[in-house]
Amino acid sequence: MARRSFVAGNWKMHKTVGEATAIARELRGLVSQLRDRVEIAIAPPFTALHAVAKALEDSNVAVAAQNCHAEVQGAFTGEVSAPMCAEAGCRYVILGHSERRQLFGETDVGVNSKVKAVLAAKLLPIICVGETLAEREAGKTLEIVSAQVRGCLNGFSAEQGKSFVLAYEPVWAIGTGKTATSKQAQEVHAHIRGLLTAQWGEGVAQAVRIQYGGSVKPENAQELLSQPDIDGALVGGASLKAADFAAIVKAAPGA
Ligand code: 13P
Repeated sequence: MARRSFVAGNWKMHKTVGEATAIARELRGLVSQLRDRVEIAIAPPFTALHAVAKALEDSNVAVAAQNCHAEVQGAFTGEVSAPMCAEAGCRYVILGHSERRQLFGETDVGVNSKVKAVLAAKLLPIICVGETLAEREAGKTLEIVSAQVRGCLNGFSAEQGKSFVLAYEPVWAIGTGKTATSKQAQEVHAHIRGLLTAQWGEGVAQAVRIQYGGSVKPENAQELLSQPDIDGALVGGASLKAADFAAIVKAAPGA
């Protein structure tokens, strides 16, 4: 089954509202010809979500949040809920990014609860997994990624799962300029698809998009995105410039 490529930009803690809307408008112009051939999203900081969603109205670029809380509302100072993200104009929420796991103590169980909240708000999750350098060097990559995928997806039905997006982001490749080789990435992506088959069956596993993230740039995008189980990219640094991000989007098969 041909999966539609999906390229998303994770802006992390970058860009003011003014800067974010300016890039969003520029990007909108650069990718408007690609309508429907490849799915595109950008994830600005919470403060800019609403303004960016307005700037992208009726375009082929969706908006994603970078995180959300598992509860709908309550006394959780500093947190933002999934329904709030939905109202701000989001279609996706990135969950379990390695920076959240490493710097903010997120766990697979916590991500699992957030996935429930995201679905309840009629949003779609982009669930991130990936091993550290020490784990890769210890030969534990597939074991670690398996535990993350199983933990994050535990309890979700095939019906729910078919709309999920996963992102394999080896921690050692994030922001380091060190990209996984296309062979290294493909190996893990194929393994993840095997886990999805075990949980939800072949049909759903073949429909779920698995993005690769970690130092994706215009220069290496085509090689990575041409791998059979790499269905798109989750781009950090290179998504902060509209021209670079658009070049990565255009490197996706079908774009
Ligand atoms: P870089 O593309 O900057 O390596 O970041 C990847 C990432 O963490 C996307 O979520």
